[in-house]
Formats: sequence, C-alpha cells, structure tokens
Amino acid sequence: MKAIVIGSGGREHAIAWALASSPDITEVVCVPGNGGTATEHKCRNVHVSAAETAKVVEACVSELAGLADGSFAVIGPEDPLAAGLADRLALEGIAVVGPHSRPAQLEASKDAAKRFMERYGVACAKSATFTDAREAIAEIGRHDGPVVVKADGLAAGKGVVVAPEADTAVAAVKDFMVDSTLGAAGRKVVIEEYLEGEEISILAAVSVTPELAAKGKASIVPFVPARDHKRLLEGAKGPNTGGMGAVAPANGVSDETLARFRSDILEPTLKGLVAEGYDYRGFIFFGIMVTKDGPKLLEYNVRLGDPETQAVLPLMDFDFSRMCRAIIDGTVADFPFAWKPGVACAPVAVSRGYPGQYEKGHPITIDREKIARMGAKVFIAGATVDQRRAPRSEGDPEWPVGTLVTTGGRVLAASAVGKDLDEARALAYRALESVSFGGMGFRRDIGLPGAAVSKGF
Ligand code: AMP
Ligand code: GLY
Repeated sequence: MKAIVIGSGGREHAIAWALASSPDITEVVCVPGNGGTATEHKCRNVHVSAAETAKVVEACVSELAGLADGSFAVIGPEDPLAAGLADRLALEGIAVVGPHSRPAQLEASKDAAKRFMERYGVACAKSATFTDAREAIAEIGRHDGPVVVKADGLAAGKGVVVAPEADTAVAAVKDFMVDSTLGAAGRKVVIEEYLEGEEISILAAVSVTPELAAKGKASIVPFVPARDHKRLLEGAKGPNTGGMGAVAPANGVSDETLARFRSDILEPTLKGLVAEGYDYRGFIFFGIMVTKDGPKLLEYNVRLGDPETQAVLPLMDFDFSRMCRAIIDGTVADFPFAWKPGVACAPVAVSRGYPGQYEKGHPITIDREKIARMGAKVFIAGATVDQRRAPRSEGDPEWPVGTLVTTGGRVLAASAVGKDLDEARALAYRALESVSFGGMGFRRDIGLPGAAVSKGF
C-alpha cells in the first residue's frame, strides 16, 4: 500500500523514512516533501504546498485512485490540520492520520486549549484570557515576578513571550494586541503564571471517536518521553527557536512523574476528547513543565513534535505504518508498542541569522557513507535539491542524490541511537561534523543535564 505524508519539514522526513522502512509500504508520496524526502528510499515528492488545501486533496485523491488496499495519509504540521484538511480528506473517503479541525483547535487557540484543560481538570498553569489590551495589562500588574504572555492563535513559535518582569510583558501585549504584529493570531492573549522546572515532550498516538468511546476502546498511548531544547544558545540562553535538538528518552524523568502525567494530564485529556464527541485519530503532543508540584501541561500540539520526532522514531521497535493503521482502525490500545533500549540524540543545524532573518542558498556537503557506517541518520528540514546541480546520469558522482542547498532556518538534524546518552551524543555529533554548509551553527550541549531548564532569568 501507499502512504502519503503532508508537510515539508524534518518531522515529515522522519515520518516518511519510518513509513518507507515498513515492508507493507510500496511507496511514500510526500506533499510537498523536501530535499531529504526527494532522495529517500521508496519516497517521491509531489510539488503542491501543504497550505493549498484543495490542491492537496486533489493530489491525494489522484494518488490513491482505485486503491482499496489500506493506503492512508499522514498530516504532519498544525496549519493544515487547523484548516480542516483531515475533514476534507475524510469526505473523499481517504483514511487519514491527523485530527479533524474541531479538536485541532486545542493547538490553534491557546484560549480554547486552556478552557479545555480547566473544564476537564488537566494539571496546568493558572491563566486568564483577554480581548482588551488594558485589561491584559492590568492582569500583568496583579502578578509578582515573571509572567507568560501567549497570543491566542497559531504564530509559528513567535506567539509566546516569557517575560522576566512586567515591562517586557506589557510590551508583548502591546505588540500582539495594539500593533497586531501577529495579525489576527494576537487579537486575544492568554496571561499565564510562570512555571519553573524542566520541560519534557510526550508524543502519543490517539484513537478517539464516539463509536470507539461507546465500546470502551478510545485511547491515548504515550511514546517514550522526549526533550526539546528551545533556546538558540548553549546553556539554555538566547531567544526561543522552533527547537535546537532533541533527546529521547529524556533523562531524569522519574516513574512518579510519569505516573502523575498519566493521572493528572493524560487521563483527563482522554476524558475530555471523549466528552466533546471528537473524531481524533492522529498524534497528540503534550508540552510539559515538570515543576516541584508535579508535571503541568503547557500546551497541546495536535501532531508530532519537531525535532522530537527525529529522536523518537529511531527508537521504535515496531512497524510505524502498522501503528498508523491501528490509529485509523481504532486498535492502538492493543498495538504492540515496544522501544529499543538506549538513547537517541538529534542535534539540529541551523542557518546563520536564525531565528531572525537567516541565510539561504548554501550548498550542503554530506559524507553519507561515513554517516551510514555509523548507523546515524540525517533528517533534512530546510533544504531542497538544487535543480541546476541535479545529477544527470548514473556516471555522475552525485547520482542519485544531487546537491542539497539550504532553504530554511532549521536545516537538518543528525540523529543517532547509542547504548546510553554519552554514546548517542558522540555518534550524533560525529554525524553532524560530517555535514557542512555556509553559515552552519548548532548547540553542542543537546541532551546534557540542565540544557533545557526554565529557571529564573
Ligand atoms: P508553548 O507554545 O505554550 O509551549 O510555549 C512555548 C515555550 O514557552 C514553552 O516550550 C516553554 O519553554 C515556554 N513557556 C510556555 N508557558 C510557560 C509557563 N507557563 N512557564 C514557563 N515557561 C513557559
Ligand atoms: N518541538 C516543539 C514543537 O514541535 O512545537
């Protein structure tokens, strides 16, 4: 059967790679994919932007026409989910991994997410939502010390300001609500209590529909906990980014924390998804702060995390495509999840200037043989195959790979599994050192204790 992967980042390259490694899958069609999926075994790119819903639907319908073999689509990023792509594909009779637009509001609206958490008793930071800037500023005045300002809508990682003092928080409210720097996404803001602790990301498979709930089969199955490193610079300094690297399993997560995560976050979330009558078959991402009072939910994402996916999927000891089918069929509760022993580390290489204006168009050199010998894997995020340098024949030394050129801020991640964190880090960084491009930068401390703390300023 075929699998379609919608999206163009490093997460989508990892998903496509995981699907391609299944003996059940004959071909992975990436819409639009990137320079990594262009050359991945069994993968083919179709040049339609994930943002063009009607064209994506058309491409999926034509790819799957006449197939009744269990073929399915996986939607990677949040924007098409919030825009209702899963609903549209379902109307066409296409099996899809990714929630419908109503539950996708859990990520698309911070206010909707907070109200859901409060309604179902999910452990989270205290907060209040405002549509009036003066009232939001008055609320900031009622907090002592740091406070967090969150734009309600999707803002590609730019909508959250962790403010050490009131001035910064007030400036963020003015940016979002008065100057409309994020457009409609900043019309409403959530003012939230600041939580101190260490962050973890728990990705999970979700099968919830009213029919499954009636049979007692609605379920959320968490994966091994992962940790992203959001700050640009070593030692958790500098501006927030989309993620500078991930490890899995995250170190220092106690059994007690995981038990509290289940009872205080996962179970009330499942109860809520069922009570709302959602059709949610896909992935959910719990962004969690482990505080001294236990784990608290910072956010839901209605998809896999990027770059967490690039560290978590290499640890799978099961067939990813069969798990996708189990999500669709509502059988994840009985699916044989199993994880490889050891640790995965995936540092990200970024372009000079990121997360601001960054450089583009630099050719990437990758010593693929060396990386393959190490058992590591490079997942491409922001790079494309340079058509001017495309290999023409099997005699061409670049055949069949072609030269990649950078197009994004986050360019790629090198992912490696080791018997422990030290070995995983050593392998991943050796792999990253076998890659180079103009303006390449990366953090050397991914996975080290304290590299992703949220503690004071
Ligand atoms: P979010 O998109 O809500 O996950 O926020 C982005 C990042 O801001 C998180 O990964 C945290 O690092 C930080 N953050 C969000 N909410 C809080 C909070 N209440 N306290 C401390 N840090 C936070
Ligand atoms: N790594 C965080 C995210 O995917 O949003």
